[in-house]
Amino acid sequence: MCGIIGIVGKTPAAPRVIESLKRLEYRGYDSAGVAVHTPKGLDRRRAQGRIRELEAVLAAEPLEGQVGLGHTRWATHGAPNLRNAHPQKAGRVMLVHNGIIENFAELKAELIAAGRTFESDTDTEVVAHLIDQGLEQGLAPLAAFKAALNRLTGAYALGALIEGETQLVLGARRGSPLVVGYGDGEMFIGSDALAVGPFTNRVAYLDEGDYVAIGPTSAEIYNADGVRVQREVRTVAASAALVEKGNYRHFMEKEIHDQPDACRYTLSSYVDPIGGQARAPDAFDFTRIARIQLLACGTAYYAALIARYLFEDIAGLPTDVEVASEFRYRNPAVAPGTLAVAVSQSGETADTLAALRWCKAKGLTTAAIVNAPESTMSREVDHLWPTHAGPEVCVLSTKAFTAQLTALISLVVAAARQRGRIDAAEEKRLVQTLLEAPRLLSQVIADTEEALRPIAFEISRARDVLYLGRGPMYGLALEGALKLKEGSYIHAEGYAAGEMKHGPIALIDESTPVIIVAPSDAAFEKTRSNMSEVIARNGQVVLITDAEGLAHAPAEARTIVAPTCDPVIAPLIFAVPLQLLAYQVGLAKGADVDQPRNLAKSVTVE
Ligand code: M6R
Repeated sequence: MCGIIGIVGKTPAAPRVIESLKRLEYRGYDSAGVAVHTPKGLDRRRAQGRIRELEAVLAAEPLEGQVGLGHTRWATHGAPNLRNAHPQKAGRVMLVHNGIIENFAELKAELIAAGRTFESDTDTEVVAHLIDQGLEQGLAPLAAFKAALNRLTGAYALGALIEGETQLVLGARRGSPLVVGYGDGEMFIGSDALAVGPFTNRVAYLDEGDYVAIGPTSAEIYNADGVRVQREVRTVAASAALVEKGNYRHFMEKEIHDQPDACRYTLSSYVDPIGGQARAPDAFDFTRIARIQLLACGTAYYAALIARYLFEDIAGLPTDVEVASEFRYRNPAVAPGTLAVAVSQSGETADTLAALRWCKAKGLTTAAIVNAPESTMSREVDHLWPTHAGPEVCVLSTKAFTAQLTALISLVVAAARQRGRIDAAEEKRLVQTLLEAPRLLSQVIADTEEALRPIAFEISRARDVLYLGRGPMYGLALEGALKLKEGSYIHAEGYAAGEMKHGPIALIDESTPVIIVAPSDAAFEKTRSNMSEVIARNGQVVLITDAEGLAHAPAEARTIVAPTCDPVIAPLIFAVPLQLLAYQVGLAKGADVDQPRNLAKSVTVE
């Protein structure tokens, strides 16, 4: 969480900081700030709220200068108000931070005892004071910076400016990512390649513990031991054009419509359409492993939950799935021969990364299904299995989810064939089915987008909404509920349809919409019984099904009809009406669907 940009440039810094912060706003948008070396000295502007508020402050009180630092905040320590906005200031130092300094309370007590006074409630200000203290004691800027880093426990990416050092930006990373951008006679630091994307596509990723001093033409990078090191400079594809919303009103709408392409591009790494075969991008051999442990958070967890049904049913491969935040702290008894697979859009989610590292430390083979190719997870795992959804900007995950499902279903087919659970003819049939998914994704958007509008309008007036599904559709019920909560702030819960009578049925009345996701698969009849139970209690059923399911739907249910498809890709196709519904309910409520309150796109703190 939190986004950082630092610039030693040749043109005015403040507008460039703003441009970059707009691309980083997905990391948090509680407050924002900019600091610049002006002709009159180091100065800053800050604003509570979004980047546009900071822009307004800068318009009223501009900052002149070509070297600057910017930050967009997702609050951890201290309320999301102006005095806690970054850059934080102490003496000669202005500092921005992404992460959590765990020992900040002890350090703060020590600094107060030494006579220092604090303006904010942040952990960040402590670090600014430590650096300033080092400067006061006569250390050079880089030495004072390193001395401060040595005192910190916790996670951080940092950027610092120092009064009087007008051609210098300092940066450091431990636990939170930071890149160095190499421009033409100018240099940058940023939270990721997108941050520096408007200025350069040549970046170096700092390793854990690295710190850096950038000047106009060079970067001095040091490792945690203070040894000068080189980090590979790569050309990345995080072009500015990829993150525009084009003619769509919101990134969420665009990204829902991006899904046929996201699926198609992802399939290109996982299936051979000519040979009719599925494979991991690195041809991983699934006969080498005894079981799979899937690890993820949020929407990615629901993709993993759906995949468990398929890995066990189709590939006969024992599969566990757990939210990473639980797994990492419960000392799990993982069987030898387990392949640990993280699923993550960003590749930076702190809990998922920690769970993955735990598995690695236990000697397990690790893999990650990741959308951000240059992320920390991508670089740390034994097997990188990318999704190709392209940058996902909306905080609500949509195309990354269906791209994850695309990759996971392809891996299921590959594992099933390698482990002798299906023959070549069945593999070919399943591959053909996967190859139809992009077309069916286009069709489901076309078939359901308008039909959902009146239902969305009614749901926008509900206080609570239930989502029910069975088998792989259980994971979709959970995902549908999460999308509605995030997009509209309406309370929603997903349940396994069979669980309803064990409690949730008490919530059913005429004012509670119940969204039931039920293609005409083997579980349909059972789910139909659950529908009848809801209808008998005056519940308002919205059934999302296919043509065959429509023929057997209770007359009282409102129906949304998705294209008929093979059960193996049904989770992919049926995800779309749930996303569209959440989007349209959000619109009807006037919610900020791309940046809902309290959330951030990339959750890099635990
Ligand atoms: O980047 P990741 O896929 O690891 O992120 C996991 C969750 O934070 C993410 O899916 C979150 O739940 C989204 N806001 C869901 O829309």
